[in-house]
Amino acid sequence: MAIAVDLALALDPVRLAQRIGIEPDPWQAALLRNRTRQMILNCSRQAGKSTVSSILCLHEALYYPPALVLLASPSLRQSGELFRKVKESYAALGSEAVPVAQESALRLELVNGSRIVCLPGKEASIRGFSAVRLLVVDEASRVPDELYQAIRPMLAVSGGRLVLLSTPFGRRGFFHHEWAEGGPDWQRVQIKADQCPRIPKDWLAKERATIGDWWYRQEYGCEFVDTTDQVFRYEDVMGALDPSVKPLFGGL
Ligand SMILES: Nc1ncnc2c1ncn2[C@@H]1O[C@H](COP(=O)(O)OP(=O)(O)OP(=O)(O)O)[C@@H](O)[C@H]1O
Ligand SMILES: [Mg+2]
Repeated sequence: MAIAVDLALALDPVRLAQRIGIEPDPWQAALLRNRTRQMILNCSRQAGKSTVSSILCLHEALYYPPALVLLASPSLRQSGELFRKVKESYAALGSEAVPVAQESALRLELVNGSRIVCLPGKEASIRGFSAVRLLVVDEASRVPDELYQAIRPMLAVSGGRLVLLSTPFGRRGFFHHEWAEGGPDWQRVQIKADQCPRIPKDWLAKERATIGDWWYRQEYGCEFVDTTDQVFRYEDVMGALDPSVKPLFGGL
């Protein structure tokens, strides 16, 4: 059956994920079925948060036309990563999906009038969108507060949904604020690395030994650890994990 008129897919985003070839983890399935207007996903690295939100975006675009879906993140490159996942999922649906009306590097427009648009990370260049149905903020803990303040009003009139997803990045910024003090209007979901079936336990143990306890608790334990206890910069730690980065004192 053409997916546009398939009621089961329209009613259940989990079915859409399965049609795409992804069997959602239990928390991903719960999230896909949750219609709360504001959701925060505080998840470990590699838990699958971008994957699940790309399906959420696609489901809105396919079944709630003409939907405007916006993807935001700290940089255009990172929003582009999420957008790439959306396009891969869309492509996996093949010819049964609602056809594309127009496509560019930053935008997918379907013939049903829905649009999925990738935003740059700069506050100045994102104003002007309204009637937003779904706004997804990836890597939200690293998005500047000004950008968050600029995008929130886009949901005001439409009553659209807001999904913040991230690993924590200290006790600062709106991501931490909404998580810790944002009140009862948020659905909060926390998924630590040991809850993700795809991350091997022995790999996690090695990672902890490599990056140290402080970073491990943040990146894999979903903890908002205090920035004043931070000994090394994020870039230095991540650089240490990248085999293409040459050690400074490699000759010693
Ligand atoms: N339910 C699933 N079944 C199979 N593979 C999955 C599932 N969810 C995610 N993955 C895979 O796990 C990997 C990590 O997923 P994803 O990029 O969505 O995680 P993330 O939480 O956004 O990671 P990061 O913190 O690095 O941004 C990807 O290769 C993705 O395809
Ligand atoms: Mg991601």
